Amino acid sequence: MKADEIRRKEDILPPEGRLGVLIPGLAGAVSTTFIAGVEAVRRKMALPIGSLTQMGTIRLGKRTENRVPKIKEFVPLANLESLVFGGWDIFEDNLYDACLKAKVLRKDLVEGLKDFLCEIKPYPGVFRQDFVHNLEGQYIKKEKDYLGLIEALKADIEDFKRRHNLNRCVMIWCGSTEAYLSLKDVHKSLDAFEEGLKKNDPAIAPSMLYAYAAITSGVPFVNGAPNLTVDIPALIELAEKNKVPIAGKDFKTGQTLLKTIIAPGIKARMLGLKGWFSTNILGNRDGLVLDDAASFKTKEISKKSVLDYILQPDVYPELYKDVYHKVRINYYPPRGDNKEAWDNIDIFGWLGYEMQIKINFLCRDSILAAPVVLDLALFIDFARRAGLYGIQEWLSFYFKSPMVGKELYPEHDLFIQLMKLKNTLRVLMEETEITHTGLDYYIEE
Ligand SMILES: NC(=O)c1ccc[n+]([C@@H]2O[C@H](COP(=O)([O-])OP(=O)(O)OC[C@H]3O[C@@H](n4cnc5c(N)ncnc54)[C@H](O)[C@@H]3O)[C@@H](O)[C@H]2O)c1
Repeated sequence: MKADEIRRKEDILPPEGRLGVLIPGLAGAVSTTFIAGVEAVRRKMALPIGSLTQMGTIRLGKRTENRVPKIKEFVPLANLESLVFGGWDIFEDNLYDACLKAKVLRKDLVEGLKDFLCEIKPYPGVFRQDFVHNLEGQYIKKEKDYLGLIEALKADIEDFKRRHNLNRCVMIWCGSTEAYLSLKDVHKSLDAFEEGLKKNDPAIAPSMLYAYAAITSGVPFVNGAPNLTVDIPALIELAEKNKVPIAGKDFKTGQTLLKTIIAPGIKARMLGLKGWFSTNILGNRDGLVLDDAASFKTKEISKKSVLDYILQPDVYPELYKDVYHKVRINYYPPRGDNKEAWDNIDIFGWLGYEMQIKINFLCRDSILAAPVVLDLALFIDFARRAGLYGIQEWLSFYFKSPMVGKELYPEHDLFIQLMKLKNTLRVLMEETEITHTGLDYYIEE
């Protein structure tokens, strides 16, 4: 995270006017559940459950002070009324049709929002099928070269701002998971990347073109999928040069959310771990895309890294040296978005005695992801107004593979991530950080 200096609280720009939320993957399950959900909340038909910005509080000062405002009252965040939605997809459906196809939300809820949802239509996407083998793009931009595609995306951003009279925009990638891509030379510096753009280098993925268009338009960019996208030196450099905040990657929702809740507990009590087997059945379009080995590899890497960082096998070899960690996703259409996840955890305790934990999480993927999208849209917009730019590590709370600065390892423990997030808000709002030591309550000065 960079800032020329931490802005004084009074210098944080207020959330004036309307905020555009631009989503590549606009017609997908996560995006539609998020957008329809925000409108349902605005119409007072439901509560924004799962959203820290809307439901969460933050303690300020000592426990004896009883100062516990809601986060949205403490931090100058854009309010829900000011949000305007748009974006791109490779299917032309308006959001009403897309919501019905996604089958996440109840039909009566979607019907109640029909007037609003029908008005939201995607711009044609930038797509290459070699990055998403199991989808065929039907509604895609015609430009042949990368620079032309970037110009077309930037024109869409400007058109969206003009049409809706927007002050500011953020972009959140909710598009399909792209095929696995390792870091190549073309990703390693901005110069190399810009040369690569001129030559239409095949190692530059469509999501990177969106990110480039966003950052060069001054629009903060968040990556909700496990693709590299902005997590490459070239685009980090571009974000710093343009003073634009970026964050990613891969929303932390179902099974990995639980993993990063439970693993820190096992480690905190110095219990050992032999193996962790995680499997899922999932039947939505995301499940179809992940049924392809190349897209699954991107996801697998993202899902598997969390245990190593949390358990620190180098520091605790007797407990975690040879953990067998396996993650599987199985495409199973009958379940749609209602994923079922199983975890078998083989642990050991005092004197090496073995025990098992079994988890069966019948979750709803997009219901868990929607509030994450909302919080990220509001926080990344706040970051920009607070003068922060580059990687926003304080938003690690929301990601399976949090982006971090050079030479840092990511924090995966959900509770450390939450403390990092709240303390960042306290610092930015000129309140004392909370360390939870608590000795000052007992020791007289
Ligand atoms: N739901 C969750 O809990 C969760 C958690 C972590 C990450 N994710 C990631 O979020 C993304 C969205 O998930 P979903 O369940 O909504 O999937 P989805 O398949 O329903 O939606 C993805 C949408 O992206 C569109 N798309 C694909 N390539 C595109 C491109 N190049 N430009 C524009 N649009 C494009 C597809 O047409 C589709 O409408 C996936 O990458 C998924 O892995 C989801």
